[in-house]
Amino acid sequence: MRSPRDPSATNMTKIRSILVTAALPYANGLAHMGHLVEYVQTDIWVRFQKLMGNRCIFVCASDAHGTPIMIRARKDDIDPEQIISHYHQRYVEDFAAFNIRFDNFHSTHSTENRELVEGIYAALRSGGHLDERTIRQSYDEAEGMFLPDRFVRGTCPRCGAEDQYGDSCEVCGATYSPSELIGPISTLSGTRPVERESEHLFFRLSDFDASLREWVAGGALQDSVRKKLDEWFESGLQDWDISRDAPYFGFEIPDMPGKYFYVWLDAPVGYMASLAHLAKERQDVNFDEFWAADSQAELYHFIGKDIVYFHSLFWPAVLEASGYRLPSAVFVHGFLTVNGEKMSKSRGTFITARTYLDHLDPEYLRYYYASKLGPGVEDIDLNMEDFVQKVNSDLVGKLVNIASRCAGFISRLSGGRLSDELPEPLLHETFVAAAEEIAAAYEARNFSRATRQIMALADQANQYIDHHKPWLMAKEAGREREVQAVCTQGLNAFRCLIIMLKPVLPALAAASEEFLGEGDLAWSDLERPLLGSQIMQFRPLMKRIDPKAVTAMLDASRDSLAGTGKSTETAEPDSASPEIGIDDFRKIDLRVARVLQADPVEGADKLLRLTLDLGEDRRQVLAGIRTAYRPEDLVDRMVIVVANLTPRKMRFGVSEGMILAAGPGGDEVFLLSPDTGAAPGMRIT
Ligand code: 2FM
Ligand code: ZN
Repeated sequence: MRSPRDPSATNMTKIRSILVTAALPYANGLAHMGHLVEYVQTDIWVRFQKLMGNRCIFVCASDAHGTPIMIRARKDDIDPEQIISHYHQRYVEDFAAFNIRFDNFHSTHSTENRELVEGIYAALRSGGHLDERTIRQSYDEAEGMFLPDRFVRGTCPRCGAEDQYGDSCEVCGATYSPSELIGPISTLSGTRPVERESEHLFFRLSDFDASLREWVAGGALQDSVRKKLDEWFESGLQDWDISRDAPYFGFEIPDMPGKYFYVWLDAPVGYMASLAHLAKERQDVNFDEFWAADSQAELYHFIGKDIVYFHSLFWPAVLEASGYRLPSAVFVHGFLTVNGEKMSKSRGTFITARTYLDHLDPEYLRYYYASKLGPGVEDIDLNMEDFVQKVNSDLVGKLVNIASRCAGFISRLSGGRLSDELPEPLLHETFVAAAEEIAAAYEARNFSRATRQIMALADQANQYIDHHKPWLMAKEAGREREVQAVCTQGLNAFRCLIIMLKPVLPALAAASEEFLGEGDLAWSDLERPLLGSQIMQFRPLMKRIDPKAVTAMLDASRDSLAGTGKSTETAEPDSASPEIGIDDFRKIDLRVARVLQADPVEGADKLLRLTLDLGEDRRQVLAGIRTAYRPEDLVDRMVIVVANLTPRKMRFGVSEGMILAAGPGGDEVFLLSPDTGAAPGMRIT
C-alpha cells in the first residue's frame, strides 16, 4: 500500500479553499458534446486541485425555469416539474458516466434557491436598486401570454427578408423590437400579436459601474473578455428587466402577484443554492465560508462565451448589491465544432452524451478535449479522424504500452515484485522535475500544454525501454534481476504519467492504481518511487478506438432527434401553423424552375440572387441560402418556386418569388427538387 504523504510538503504549501461552478444546463434537454467541453474542462481543473491536496468543491444544478419549459408543459399538458425532474435525472446519469464528479448537482427549482433569491430581491429593493416601469410588449391573445422576442416572427423592417425573429434579422443583421416587424406572427399560435402594457421590474446595473470596473481591473477575466467588457462599459450599462409576466415557470416575486423572476436572475443563484444544500449534508462545508462578503475562499465560474454578459456584469452586480462576495474569476471557453462545422443533426454530428456512451469510452473524449483545451476563448474542434488517431497513438500506443511492455516480465520473472532500487534514478528525477511545469499548466487551464508535456515524458519512457530491450534480456538466463530493474523503472515512469494524467483520466488512473497495488494516488506521490512492492496481474487498461464505432455513433446521431438543453429563452419552439383548407392551399402557385444563374448579393452575407427559368417566364429571387449552398453548385439545379407571391422590394432588389427548402436555416437548408423528368414551368398539384 502507498506510504503516507510527505508531511513536510503539505505543511509548507497552504491548502486553498476553492468553490468551482460550471454553467447550469437547462432542464429541458439532453447533455451533448458541446456541453461536455465545459463539464470536462471544469472537472479536470477540480480534480487537479484535489490531487494537489487543495480543498475544492464543485457544484452545479439544472436550470429549471423559463418560458420554453412552461410552454412545453402547457403543450404536453403535464406539470413543468415532471419535465425538469426527468431531464435533471438524465443529466445526473450522463455526467456520472463521463466521470464528472460534482460535490453536488442541485436544481434551481429548490427551496434553497427560492430562499436565496428572495433574500437577494429584498436586498436589491432595500438598497434602492430596483425601478418599476411600464413597458409595451407583444402579447398573444390566443395563448393569453406575453411573448419573448424570439417567439415573434415576421418580415424584417430593414431589408424585407421574410420569417425573421422578433429581435434581429438573420439576413441583414438589423436589430429591432418585435413591434417593428412587418406582419408579425406569434410562433405559438400563428396569430398576429397585439401590443400590451405591463409593469416590469428593472435592476439598475449602472449603480455598479464603478465597482464592476474595479472588479474587472482586479484580473477576474481573461484579456479578450476584459476587452469586451471595456466596450460594454463604454457604451453604458443598461438597466436589466428581471421580471416576467404570468404564465411563467419560475419563482413568483413576493410582493408582485402574477410577476415572476426572470430565469436569468435565479439561475446563477443556483450556484449558491447548490452549496447551501451541500452544507446541510456535509459537516465540513459552510455556506458563509464561501459566500460571505469577507470570504477568504476562492470562487471560480466556468462558462461558455455566450453567457459572459450575465456572469461578468449582472451576476457580480447582484452579488455586490446583496452583500455577498464577488467571484475570484470567471473562466470563459469557446464553442465546440465537430469536423470543423457547427454541430448538425443532418450530418450526424449533433451527438448526445448518451449516444457517445453507447459507442465509446468516455475517457477517450476527456483526453481529446484536454489535448485541445487552452486557457483562452477560442473554439475547439472535435475532428473525428484526429480523435481516433490521437487517442490511439497517445493513450494506447504510448501510455498504456509502457505498462504492458513491463508488467508481464515482472509477473513472470520476479513473481510480480518490483525491484528495491531504480537502475536510473535520474530518469525518475526528470519526471519529477517536469511535474512543476505541468502543474502550472493545469492551474492555468492550459490542458493542451500539460498533455503535450506528459506525452513527451511518455516518449522518453518508451525510448528507455526500447534502449534496454527487456524482451531480449529475458531470453538470457541469469539476467532476471536486470529485467526486473528495467521494468521497475518503466513501471515507475508509467506511474508518474498516470498521476499526472489523473485529472483527465480518472477511470484509467483508478484501474492503474489497482494494478500497481496502490491506493488513491496524490500529486505528492510523484516524488517517491514505487519500489519493492507487489503488483497485480496486468490486464489491458485501454482498448484502441475502432473507427467503426465512431461511424456507428455518427449514424445513430443522424437518426435520433433528441432534444438539447441549450438556450431556454432563445430556443425556437415548434411553430404551430394554423390549419388551412384545400382552397387556401390551391391559392399557392407552386412551379418547377431551373436555376439559370446564382450570384452572391453584396452587403448581405446570407443572400443569393437567383435567376430562375419558369418555362415561359424568367424570375429573379433573393434567397437566404448562401451559408448552405455555393452559387456555382446551384446552376442548372431544379427547384420548386412559389410563383404567385407578391413581389417584394428588398434593400438589395426585388424578389419575385420564393424557393422551397426544408430545415431550420443557416447552414442547414435543404432545397426541394422534383424528380428527374420534371420541366421548368410545370405546376405542382
Ligand atoms: O446558457 C445556459 O445554458 C444557461 N442555462 C446557463 C445558466 S448558468 C448560471 F447562470 F446559472
Ligand atoms: Zn433584414
